[in-house]
Amino acid sequence: MGKTTTATNLSYLINEKNFKSRTKYKNLDIVQANNTLVRTECVCFLLEEQLKKIKEQYDFVIIDGHPSLEDYTIAALVASDLCIIPIKLDQYAINGIEIMDDQISEIEKITGKIRYKILITQFQKSVSGRRGYEELVTLNRYPIFRSVIRRTVKADESTYKRKPLEKCARSSTAAEDYRNFVEELLQEVNYNGLHD
Ligand SMILES: Nc1ncnc2c1ncn2[C@@H]1O[C@H](COP(=O)(O)OP(=O)(O)OP(=O)(O)O)[C@@H](O)[C@H]1O
Ligand SMILES: [Mg+2]
Repeated sequence: MGKTTTATNLSYLINEKNFKSRTKYKNLDIVQANNTLVRTECVCFLLEEQLKKIKEQYDFVIIDGHPSLEDYTIAALVASDLCIIPIKLDQYAINGIEIMDDQISEIEKITGKIRYKILITQFQKSVSGRRGYEELVTLNRYPIFRSVIRRTVKADESTYKRKPLEKCARSSTAAEDYRNFVEELLQEVNYNGLHD
């Protein structure tokens, strides 16, 4: 759908904005997941608790999610101020939003409020693309970012190059869209705390 693509490009662009750095030379720390959480019984609040300990060291923590709503996804939802849900538009995806919204409501009963916002990705200006977009916007039931990430062959290429779009395909449509998206996101989270 675009979770990893969004997480990597967003991390790179936010890092470029010179937010609070952990060390003088390295603005961005990347922590790889492992399976330790999988066998733990109740992990809903585990990530939130751990992140609280390092909160002051970072301006942003971007968590790349798992496709299914398993324990570690719930832990990420609970730990997050805002959950970005990338969606590639088609009828199945639109139907899926309702299911996901219901599931989140169920989780909220246990964990408290979870805030999410949909990011339309791999967007194509075809008849069906526009139709899907209008359907979702007209529905007006779910929060959606104004920014839309367009589909580009450069996205697949960037995975082979192991670089964010900004580095390997700066003039591509999606690179431009991610730049706009970051501006919208920073406004959304009301962040203007740039550091020297
Ligand atoms: N804007 C885009 N245009 C074209 N292709 C894209 C775009 N964004 C992502 N893709 C491609 O779609 C595929 C899935 O993207 P990605 O890996 O980011 O999804 P994901 O949500 O992380 O998937 P998973 O649930 O498997 O982790 C990748 O091949 C990626 O290159
Ligand atoms: Mg992924």
